[in-house]
Parts: sequence; structure tokens; C-alpha cells
Amino acid sequence: MEVRKVSIREAKSRIKNDPELSKMLVRSGWREIALDLDGDGSADVSFSSQKAGRKIDTIAIDLSGNGEFNLYLHDFDGNGIPDTVCLVEDGGEEQIVAFGGEVELGFVNLGVRIANLLTAEEFLNRELGISLADLAAYLKLHAAAMLQELEKRGTAEGIEKVYYFLHDAQTYYLATVEGTKPRVRPFGTVLLHDGRLYIMTARTKAVSKQIAENPCAEICASMNGTWIRVSAELVEDNDRNVKVAMLEAAPALKQMYSADDDNMQMLYMKDASAIIQSFTTEPEVIKF
Ligand SMILES: Cc1cc2nc3c(=O)[nH]c(=O)nc-3n(C[C@H](O)[C@H](O)[C@H](O)COP(=O)(O)O)c2cc1C
Repeated sequence: MEVRKVSIREAKSRIKNDPELSKMLVRSGWREIALDLDGDGSADVSFSSQKAGRKIDTIAIDLSGNGEFNLYLHDFDGNGIPDTVCLVEDGGEEQIVAFGGEVELGFVNLGVRIANLLTAEEFLNRELGISLADLAAYLKLHAAAMLQELEKRGTAEGIEKVYYFLHDAQTYYLATVEGTKPRVRPFGTVLLHDGRLYIMTARTKAVSKQIAENPCAEICASMNGTWIRVSAELVEDNDRNVKVAMLEAAPALKQMYSADDDNMQMLYMKDASAIIQSFTTEPEVIKF
């Protein structure tokens, strides 16, 4: 079976473009995407990431039919194949089982499979070839190691987190300074390349001239009730490879810019300080 890892943005657009799936799309708390397959008003399967804007690495499934997500598939190593199954017990106690790369579930296929689901036991038997008792045994054996892995994953990669946030928010607002006045406008370009976080503009624009005069800038975006502010110095990078990477990442730009047009301008964030906040979580500060 083909297994492909998709970004939250791509998954959303695939769902929206699929009339059958789009009927099932529901809003669901912290989860970025949730589908209501049986039309009872509560989500049956959700696709989410542990970190804001990251690629999907958790698929949660409601096996009980009562709106509780009690089976999770995690992709710890990021290879697109869930490598653990985690079953949440009735009492809320979470246990985890490791399957290496053996469990393969495709994004689109999953919707079809889950629609035919009856019970947790059937799912495990039919799709994974194991019994609930097997699962429980595995859970007990591997829970500690998997929890450690979860913690490790949760702390790494600050710049990536900022990148995915801006990428998935699609639009962010860039504030610059002109003399003594603030100036702000919508932007959308963002690129993570060789450990630097870039945005793109045109030399002809006032924003470019403002940055040349004063490189201090601040960016703000919000998504699903969470917002980010990044303040940084914007530094020009004329490397042609970076421009090419930007055009490849956002091919629509090719209609207006080329790597050799002398107008396209790549700026990376230096001495950046980002803060990610929501009304319900502790602010997270990321420096890069
Ligand atoms: C959703 C959206 C995204 C945009 N993204 C960019 C961008 O990444 N880079 C850019 O130069 N202009 C972008 N623009 C256009 C700028 O907002 C526009 O050119 C603005 O006037 C530039 O600011 P300035 O007039 O102060 O130079 C975007 C506009 C919209 C509506």
C-alpha cells in the first residue's frame, strides 16, 4: 500500500476538493483536521501534528463511536509510516505499543477503512493482524521507551516549528519601520533553507526599501486560536540557489519572478525571537 506523508495544508485542500470527504470535515478542538464519517456530528478520525503546523504525525481514531479518540497511530521517525499504535484505556490511562515500520496506513485509504469499522477488535484483527490481548502485551512492554521518544520529539527543532506555523497559516503580517512610522502588510512567502528562515519580496516595493533603511521587522500570524510573533533583523541573501528553492517551494511565484530578474529579493531572519501563544497554553519562546 502506498503511504505518503502530507502537510496539514495539503490534507485540508485534498479533503476540500473531495466532495465525499468534505461533507465529513468537522471542527474539533486542538485537532487540525477531523472527519465525521458516520454523520453523527462527532469526529471519528482526526489527523494532527504534535507541533503547530508540522506534517501529520498522528492519526486518531474513534473506535468506540462515542466521540472518544481511543486509538492513535504515531509516526515518530517521520518516515510517513506510523510506527506505533497507542490505545487509550477507558480510565484515560494512555499506553503505547511499538510496531517498527510494520503498520502501514495510507491517508486516503484510512478514511475508507475506518468507514467500514465496527469495533476496535475487528480493526486490529483485520487491519493489523493482532488481537486486543497482543496489543495490551505490546503496550506494557514498550510504553516507557515510547513516552521518552515523545518527550524528545516535543522539545526539538524550534526554527522548524516557526517555519511550519508561518507556512500553514498561509498569510502572515510583516511590520517594518519607515522613519518613525510602523508599516504593515500581508505576506505569504516562507522558506526554510540550510537552517535559515527566509521570506521573499521585490526590490521595487516600499517594504524592501524600508528594510534596507532599517532591518528590524516583526511578523505576526494566527491559526486555530494560536498566534505567533517573530521579531528579527531581516538580512538579504543574494544566493541564486535560495531564490531557486523559493520558486520551487511556491511555483506560483514563477509567474512574477525569476531567480535572475534582479527584482526578487530573499531575506532571512537573524537574531530572531519568536513567541507562540494561545489563550489556553503557556507562551513558548523560540530563539534562532
Ligand atoms: C495573502 C498575501 C500574501 C502576500 N505575500 C507577499 C509576499 O510574500 N511578498 C511580497 O513581497 N508581497 C506579498 N504580498 C503583497 C504585499 O502585501 C503588497 O505588495 C504590499 O503592498 C507590500 O507592502 P509595501 O506596499 O509596503 O511595499 C502578499 C499579499 C497578500 C494579499
